[in-house]
Amino acid sequence: MLSRNNVLQRCLLIVSFLCVVQGAKILGLFPVPGKSHYILESTLMKALADVGHDVTLVSPFPKENYQPVNGTYREIVLTGFLEAHAERRKAVNLFETPSINPLSAIYIMNKIGLKLTENTFKHKNVQNLIHSNKTFDIVIVGQFMNDALKGLASHFGGHLVLFSSVGTSTWVNHLVGNPSIPSYTPEMLLSFPARMTYFQRMKNALFNAIYNINQHLIFYPRQNKLLKKYLPNAPDLHDALFNVSLVLLNTHESIAFASSYVPCMKAIGGFHVKLPKRLPIELENYFNNSKNGVIYFSLGSNVKSKDLPKQTREGIIKAFSKLKENVLWKYEDDNLPVDLPSNVRIEKWFPQQDILAHPKLKLFITHAGYASTIEAVYHGVPIIAIPIFGDQRMNAVYAETKGFGSILPWSEITEETMIAKIREVIDNSKYKENAKRKSILMKDRQVQPLDDAIYWINYIIRHKGAPHLRVASLDLAWYQYYLLDVYVPIFVIIYMFSISTKILYRKYFKKNEKIKSS
Ligand SMILES: *[C@@H]1O[C@H](CO)[C@@H](O)[C@H](O)[C@H]1NC(C)=O
Ligand SMILES: *[C@@H]1O[C@H](CO)[C@@H](O)[C@H](O)[C@H]1NC(C)=O
Ligand SMILES: *[C@@H]1O[C@H](CO)[C@@H](O)[C@H](O)[C@H]1NC(C)=O
Ligand SMILES: *[C@@H]1O[C@H](CO)[C@@H](O)[C@H](O)[C@H]1NC(C)=O
Repeated sequence: MLSRNNVLQRCLLIVSFLCVVQGAKILGLFPVPGKSHYILESTLMKALADVGHDVTLVSPFPKENYQPVNGTYREIVLTGFLEAHAERRKAVNLFETPSINPLSAIYIMNKIGLKLTENTFKHKNVQNLIHSNKTFDIVIVGQFMNDALKGLASHFGGHLVLFSSVGTSTWVNHLVGNPSIPSYTPEMLLSFPARMTYFQRMKNALFNAIYNINQHLIFYPRQNKLLKKYLPNAPDLHDALFNVSLVLLNTHESIAFASSYVPCMKAIGGFHVKLPKRLPIELENYFNNSKNGVIYFSLGSNVKSKDLPKQTREGIIKAFSKLKENVLWKYEDDNLPVDLPSNVRIEKWFPQQDILAHPKLKLFITHAGYASTIEAVYHGVPIIAIPIFGDQRMNAVYAETKGFGSILPWSEITEETMIAKIREVIDNSKYKENAKRKSILMKDRQVQPLDDAIYWINYIIRHKGAPHLRVASLDLAWYQYYLLDVYVPIFVIIYMFSISTKILYRKYFKKNEKIKSS
């Protein structure tokens, strides 16, 4: 029989076993100057600090001086990144750039990726960190065309963890040997549904091939050069790339087509969603006084409503003026060029998650960025998607395919199309029902996604990088992976066999004929 002391000892043993990883040193490298990326990344890092880790966050965003519950939270700012980004954005109005074909997109992404990586490496605060003799147990890299940064994990002596702000993709799949066959894995930039038509499959396969050739022959060699240039005693990029312990994916089956995951990939989509808070009293009043409900319109943090072409904007305003619903519009400029109808209210910023949680919200008109789409699904709000770039079209296609949203291309926005779309999505109850169904799916999890993320990072620390999660395909050459070294010899043997039988047969047959005829 166990004595009470024994039981206590056992409990302590179990508890200490599960807690041993408190106070690990964790570095997060997130150089992308996008607010929606930062919201996801900082949420993850703050949570890691709260459970007792010693966290360092490298990002372009100003310090928040967050005070974690248990651990420590240090911020290293990539000063100048946001300013440079804003400067570039000023020069480019997303609504005036003609839509880019996927092949030029590869070229542009190469350029952006190399520039971002180089600027990160040579930033004085990163150089100071590199030369500081500091070590980390875990190095988390935000996956975004910055592959050379992965070399920093071994420099700091830590296990490499990737955070992907989207789901599985051509960027990460091959790094951990995740099957991603182009017949059913649509490329993010092409935005096809998972069940593709013949021509979609053909385009997808071709694009996939070109993309992979670009990665291996152009992009990685250049990233490797950057790594060698800025990191003393740098490992070879190839060794760093395929040494990933864990991939955290900001996705879930409720917001993206089902995908295969190798054991080191964990889908934590929805982890950044916070429990709804009460709205500010004035906004709550606004909702209470909106007899016919409220529509929320925001194009996110990257795309600005004020950049919409004048005609489009006027069409939207006219459409809104004819609605019985009230409209909250996130608009970044104080002066709209036209008078606002009385049922439209603009602000530079809204507490988006709390608005989406309000039961009187009827519709979310969104650019369909990943974070916004997840929040809409979480709260069961149907959407009208106005995708503009990046992964937005992919999310929009998903929403439309699954019936909780409808796409309105921004170039087709007029007063009439806008009204028709709004009436369709609000008045046809299927959208709301599908959104509710998705919301239930998103919330039906064994473990809350943020807890899951923390669990797996602790797991990687406890099991020293968890090399047992690695699939063997990573150790195969590409021709072995595709079994070319098996099929080719078999094919050759069959071919030779058939030729030789033919020859033998002919010889024999002819001999026989000769014998017969003679
Ligand atoms: C902080 O540490 C205390 C004591 O170890 C623990 O009880 C508590 O759950 C921790 N808080 C969080 C958010 O993990
Ligand atoms: C790093 O360690 C080396 C060797 O121990 C030492 O010479 C150097 O001063 C240290 N650098 C810093 C920034 O602490
Ligand atoms: C791969 O990662 C492990 C820890 O997860 C580390 O010990 C090893 O040195 C790394 N290898 C390379 C080549 O970076
Ligand atoms: C809004 O209505 C709800 C429910 O009727 C009520 O509980 C809340 O106090 C109202 N808020 C304001 C600011 O009047």
